[in-house]
Amino acid sequence: MLQKNLLHWYDRNKRDLPWRHTGDPYSIFVSEMMLQQTQVKTVIPYYERFLKELPDWKALAKAKEEKVLKLWEGLGYYRRARNLQAAAQKILADHQGLLPDSMEEILEIPGVGPYSAGAVLSIAFQKPHPVVDGNVIRVFSRLFLLRGNLKTGEGHKKVWELAENLISRQRPGDFNQAVMELGATVCLPENPQCLLCPLLSGCLAAQKGLQGELPEMPKATPVLEVPMAALYLEQKGRVLVKKRAQNERWLKGMWEFPSAEGKTYEEALQKLETHLRVKAHRKELNEVKHQITHHKIRLKLFGGITPKSLRVSKDLKWVPLKKLRDLPFASAQNKLREWVLQKSS
Ligand code: ADE
Repeated sequence: MLQKNLLHWYDRNKRDLPWRHTGDPYSIFVSEMMLQQTQVKTVIPYYERFLKELPDWKALAKAKEEKVLKLWEGLGYYRRARNLQAAAQKILADHQGLLPDSMEEILEIPGVGPYSAGAVLSIAFQKPHPVVDGNVIRVFSRLFLLRGNLKTGEGHKKVWELAENLISRQRPGDFNQAVMELGATVCLPENPQCLLCPLLSGCLAAQKGLQGELPEMPKATPVLEVPMAALYLEQKGRVLVKKRAQNERWLKGMWEFPSAEGKTYEEALQKLETHLRVKAHRKELNEVKHQITHHKIRLKLFGGITPKSLRVSKDLKWVPLKKLRDLPFASAQNKLREWVLQKSS
């Protein structure tokens, strides 16, 4: 009954989203990678542009990493983009260019975990594997009045088991999308629209008026402040930029005004000075903030004196201002870039 009501509601109320017009496993895979940590509204234009530029596994596998990152610029969690390309390369090398349709094999694909495996197998191949994301957790916590932390450990396992038992065997992909859709449009975190809910009559939380208290959240991880300094060096209309190395803890492969972390800005600046053998000015040009998971990054941009003998290695490049936007920059650095471009225009 729950399945029938939910699917009936979904058929009438689902949003018209671009990845709901395709059965192509590649397109569905790309959409699920984007949707993993990003809202539907944000994803749509990225999805469309990505598929236009890189329409199949082969195009993605053979693209320059920089192009993939540029197409991902602004979506965040750039590891997803690098994994997506590694996935395409593996699918070409090991699976004749066809996405595998078994749980065991798809879990071997870079970037694929239980969530994306379930989503792709059910939506692209109609296999009855469930998905559990934040929306599903919220819906089930209320429907079955589940207390405690459902994001990890035993609680999380319990949600997976419920989802496994409930999934429609006839329409698994639609069932999974319907639960997520319900969570995204009706069973909202604040002010759930219970009167519009197809599952209201069976909802244990709604019967007790407890929907506003669920799901119970685990304690938030404390936020850490991270001072960062970046250096703006200009020479004959060109600016110095750097590609972040593979051993950085985040934003690997993205470009930036050369930057360093430190316990203080002074320490960060000194690291930059040593690394680039330049002299920085201590007066900041601009400051931007950005949060990555539980790190609150405060990034200050400083000017400096370009030395005659700057060591330009492969990861450093002098780029004409006009071309600065061609490179993939992540959010905080992108804010600095926009500021620089505006100042110099
Ligand atoms: N979130 C994750 N996957 C989704 C999908 N296929 N449709 C809508 N929201 C989603």
